[in-house]
Amino acid sequence: MGGTRPPVLVTRRLPQAALDRVEARCDMTLYEGDGAMPRGRLLVAVSGQAGAVTLLTDRVDDEFLDAAGPQLKVVANYAVGFDNIDVDACTRHGVLACNTPEVLTETTADTAFALMMAAARRIAEGDRFLRSGAAWTWGPLMMLGQDVHHKTLGVVGFGRIGRALARRARGFAMRVLYHDLYRPPAEAEQELQAEYRDLEDLLRESDFVSLHISLTPQTRHLINAGRLALMKPTAVLVNTSRGPVIDEQALAQALTEGQILAAGLDVFEHEPDVHPGLLACQNAVLLPHLGSATVHTRLAMANLAVDNLLAGLDDRHPPALLNPEAREQHAADG
Ligand code: DGY
Repeated sequence: MGGTRPPVLVTRRLPQAALDRVEARCDMTLYEGDGAMPRGRLLVAVSGQAGAVTLLTDRVDDEFLDAAGPQLKVVANYAVGFDNIDVDACTRHGVLACNTPEVLTETTADTAFALMMAAARRIAEGDRFLRSGAAWTWGPLMMLGQDVHHKTLGVVGFGRIGRALARRARGFAMRVLYHDLYRPPAEAEQELQAEYRDLEDLLRESDFVSLHISLTPQTRHLINAGRLALMKPTAVLVNTSRGPVIDEQALAQALTEGQILAAGLDVFEHEPDVHPGLLACQNAVLLPHLGSATVHTRLAMANLAVDNLLAGLDDRHPPALLNPEAREQHAADG
């Protein structure tokens, strides 16, 4: 960057310490509005920027990249998931695309485990019940749930977060099954004592199914009516990945009809909207996409996004670069 202060756009307020780092090096335009930056404003604001810190609510595609202009060097997404970014389009435009892996792994696994516990043991429902002021007396059959300990957990997507959940499950003496397109090295299976299953068998055998997959055209509605029908009537489905991997209409129906016991959902198909059928289900624990939402982790994500941004602006290799070929292309273009 030398002595110049490159112009950058940050599309939402991040933890201040990270914004201070951006401001110290760049001319920062910060969107301070409530909610996601409206598309029209985003396309205007990105014009002429050298870098952008984007959120999962900002679509980074050809339209965005054209609006930015050829001086745009780097897009640093403030999320590990990057289904909002057309990485190929970034590569074609010679723009580095980055995300924030690793720093949120343990925190997101905590959230998935919390959803398992809350859904199986009716924690949110019990809280709502007490607050309703309804009369109650302790009773042997009152609000019975399902045990978590010693049950079978099926992890769909055995990457960093899926494995971190599996580690937690071992502490609860759970049996762990997993499904992934890529088989991890045998040591990883052994360390976690996790057994591979194809998806259908995993759904049939598991008491808890937790989803840890990226959203791609292949995973959209991976959990649909047919697959829900394979699950046990006592099973709990948890999703902390991306909403559209579940067909929400089918899930609402399965929960209403008692085809499965409960669900714990942190993400939704048409976020921020939640399917009205799910809102009506007492047996669905619903969170507003809080998977990584701790003070420590959100700061770590912000710092990694800023590391990515500054490295891209400096023509260094960003720590979490999704398209190294864009860099090679830059080098070749001289
Ligand atoms: C991500 O990083 O992809 C989460 O959804 C937000 O932390």
